[in-house]
Amino acid sequence: MLYCIIHHKFISKGVYMSQFSFHRPTLAQHFCDALSGIGIIDARSGMFLAAPRRVGKSTFLREDMVPEIKSREWLPVYVDLWANRDADPAILIVESIKLSLAALDGVVTKTARSVGLDKINLGAFVLDMTKAGLPESMTITDALEKLTSISNRSVVLIIDEAQHALKTDAGISLMFSLKAARDHLNKSYGIPKLMLVFTGSHRDKLAHLVLKRDQPFYGANITPFPLLDFDFAAAFTKWVNANLAENNHLSPDAVFDAFKLVGHRPEMLRSIIGQIAINGESENLPAILKDKAREFHDQVWDDMASEFASLTPIQKAVIHVMISKRGNSYPPFADESMSEYRKITGEDSVSTTTVQTAIESLRDRGLVWNPSRGYYALEDDGLAEWYLRTCNK
Ligand SMILES: Nc1ncnc2c1ncn2[C@@H]1O[C@H](COP(=O)(O)OP(=O)(O)OP(=O)(O)O)[C@@H](O)[C@H]1O
Ligand SMILES: [Mg+2]
Repeated sequence: MLYCIIHHKFISKGVYMSQFSFHRPTLAQHFCDALSGIGIIDARSGMFLAAPRRVGKSTFLREDMVPEIKSREWLPVYVDLWANRDADPAILIVESIKLSLAALDGVVTKTARSVGLDKINLGAFVLDMTKAGLPESMTITDALEKLTSISNRSVVLIIDEAQHALKTDAGISLMFSLKAARDHLNKSYGIPKLMLVFTGSHRDKLAHLVLKRDQPFYGANITPFPLLDFDFAAAFTKWVNANLAENNHLSPDAVFDAFKLVGHRPEMLRSIIGQIAINGESENLPAILKDKAREFHDQVWDDMASEFASLTPIQKAVIHVMISKRGNSYPPFADESMSEYRKITGEDSVSTTTVQTAIESLRDRGLVWNPSRGYYALEDDGLAEWYLRTCNK
């Protein structure tokens, strides 16, 4: 779409704009080094990467991480728990492992001969591809062990938007099974046989996998996924300028300033440039770009301000306490939290029922994430950023 817009407004006739995709191979190398325990960071117990929405996590995993994994002759298994929001996350993970097994050289041919096309013969186990899940006698460890032994490769399981696993009991128990599989498969020295990568669009949500003793990956660290930076802006500028009139070029600095204002989100940057094009505002592009990016940023913050203003005092107090607990678990009904609510609202009569009702309505409004009992976080980390900068001075 943008291609058409830019083409129409700015591009000299007949110039073809290829798709723009910025790669970070060095970052992928660092991550793979960490996964195998040879980097400065040791992520052999699992890598947990968190960054806000729409900053390019999945693109990086698919376009940079998977190729790097393949180039090391490891086997990538990628599953996006947001791909099908109605499906149980546990099923999505198991099915992606089954599909990887089915795709291994030789497995399906043998199957076709022995048990029929929809079934896969794995020695002691027969996988039925027409039914969800594993055979009763087969654990997730068995399935992953088969995947490493038949492929003769280390497996890197990448679970994108991993916090969704916390939505169901089966998802939570699958996370514990993955930890058990990792411990079982990685007993010997050398490159681990099972490497695990989890991403999430919110640090506090992902933290529920690692924070407490009763959580599956207790003790692991959450790494902030590095946002696209000046190098991205410079490459994007070059790509855009190649198609602009020579006297109306953008500078990498101007583009980077706009990129920061839109929260390091590539598609927002492209959309702003597209809007300028649609409106035919091709004169003095750098100044217009800056104004539009600022407008975008202010609009997002205005929306948050009016959403927040419409909350009841107890709902605001819940948000405040939740934000003050960022990075740690938030116990909504603990004495400490209850007395905070009372202090903030100035009400002595705040009860756990009142807090419960406030949390439920915040969840219904899409402001609070509460996938199952005991797990709470803000739905959008941007709200915390806005709050800390504007309300919490
Ligand atoms: N390296 C890149 N080069 C060019 N465009 C990119 C790059 N990374 C991401 N984008 C664009 O930014 C948008 C968001 O990317 P992506 O879906 O990877 O982000 P995400 O962080 O996984 O988002 P979500 O939070 O929705 O899962 C897409 O339109 C994608 O094409
Ligand atoms: Mg994604």
